[in-house]
Amino acid sequence: MSVTVIVGAQWGDEGKGKITDYLAERSEVVVRYQGGNNAGHTVEKDGVQYKLHLIPSGILYPDKICVIGNGVVVDPSALLKEIEDLKAKGVEVKEDNLKISDRAHVVFPYHIKEDELEEKGKGDEDLGTTKKGIGPCYRDKTERIGIRMCDLMNAEVFREKLKKNLERKNKIFKDIYGEEGFDFEQIFETYREYAERLRPYVTDTSVLLYNLAKEGKKILFEGAQGTLLDLDFGTYPYVTASHPVAGGATVGAGIGPTMIDNVIGVVKAYTTRVGKGPFPTELKDEIGDFLREKGYEYGTTTGRPRRCGWIDIVMLRYAVRVSGITSLALTKLDTLTGLEKIKICTGYKINGKIIEDFPASLEELKMCEPIYEEMEGWSENIQDVRSFEDLPLNAKKYVKRLEELVGVEFSIISVGPEREETIVLRNF
Ligand code: GDP
Ligand code: IMO
Ligand code: MG
Repeated sequence: MSVTVIVGAQWGDEGKGKITDYLAERSEVVVRYQGGNNAGHTVEKDGVQYKLHLIPSGILYPDKICVIGNGVVVDPSALLKEIEDLKAKGVEVKEDNLKISDRAHVVFPYHIKEDELEEKGKGDEDLGTTKKGIGPCYRDKTERIGIRMCDLMNAEVFREKLKKNLERKNKIFKDIYGEEGFDFEQIFETYREYAERLRPYVTDTSVLLYNLAKEGKKILFEGAQGTLLDLDFGTYPYVTASHPVAGGATVGAGIGPTMIDNVIGVVKAYTTRVGKGPFPTELKDEIGDFLREKGYEYGTTTGRPRRCGWIDIVMLRYAVRVSGITSLALTKLDTLTGLEKIKICTGYKINGKIIEDFPASLEELKMCEPIYEEMEGWSENIQDVRSFEDLPLNAKKYVKRLEELVGVEFSIISVGPEREETIVLRNF
């Protein structure tokens, strides 16, 4: 394993943080390539829970280099808080082990306000965003008015850009929403202070990664969100504003596609979604409640209850295709323990016609009726199981059937949130 990308194969929260932390032991560098602090990656080590939003999940190992790539949008106040929280738990965060791209775009309070006001303005048609200002920050990036880390580091450049942006944003807040705008001096001073605190970490991370790869260092890319939240391949418009798919790693970190050796898709043993939008296998019954409570399916970032449903093979095949997934990591198999029957969605039907490929149109997706295959459940506790052979027969059958249906091998099975609660099926 030299360069590996970890991607979410569903709607996010698949357990990417846990899998990244697990694989980080065998890597030297861990990189976030998209998203911002809309992400919430939970890692558990020695009974302590760490909630990471912007910092890569390799940070718990002091000797790994963690990189926040150019494709990430960085809220400095959230990042500095995360650094302080980690330090308070005894985790080392220094300029040696955390690097931030000088090309990463910066999230400002006006982005957060735009996110809130736009969601409110949409009424019942809101997207259910995390309200962290992520979409508006990426919008400024494509509109070519964004402020990057390298701009923030230069007081004069920053002053000019912020001034222009605030004039424009304040006019929108006042004229369209009838709301107060932001005071220039206040943001300028606050962000100048952030800039000085972040300066030691900021560098050209594309050059850094290129050199590390040339030295033969093992690099792990940690996707945030998931395939179905991708701006192009997700359930648009109920998506995030970046590219979680594996291709996102190249533009989001400044590496060439030929550098990627493996793509690991992280998939939960069932499906969850936080936020709005169609969800063909959603369970609005007591089984959905069982999964939510047993799997503790509440958002890491917003605390919102996650919608739960059966695993969906149409979705997983799609994720495998668009990211070139070479193996899958199955998480939360333990959550299914205790269910008498477990269903697998093997296809969709619209008006009697079988649909094999995940549709682009939401109207079509809403009409899709899942076709289910039913399997027997198991009741044995599997959290202490460390080899595939020791899993209950029905759990083994479930995993094997998934593998057969998706057509890609499983390399890891996770049976609990802790680092060691992991079954490895393939050597990395
Ligand atoms: P991410 O956003 O993909 O990193 O996932 P989250 O951290 O938002 O959500 C996954 C949750 O499941 C976290 O609370 C993890 O600690 C937990 N988790 C991960 N893998 C397992 C597992 O195999 N079993 C159980 N029970 N919990 C897990
Ligand atoms: P991790 O990395 C699950 C969802 C939001 C909303 C949509 C757009 O922890 O898997 P945004 O704030 O990004 O503009 O919201 O995307 N969303 C996530 N859902 N896990 C995440 O991250 C998410 N990040 C954003 O709920 O539906
Ligand atoms: Mg999450």
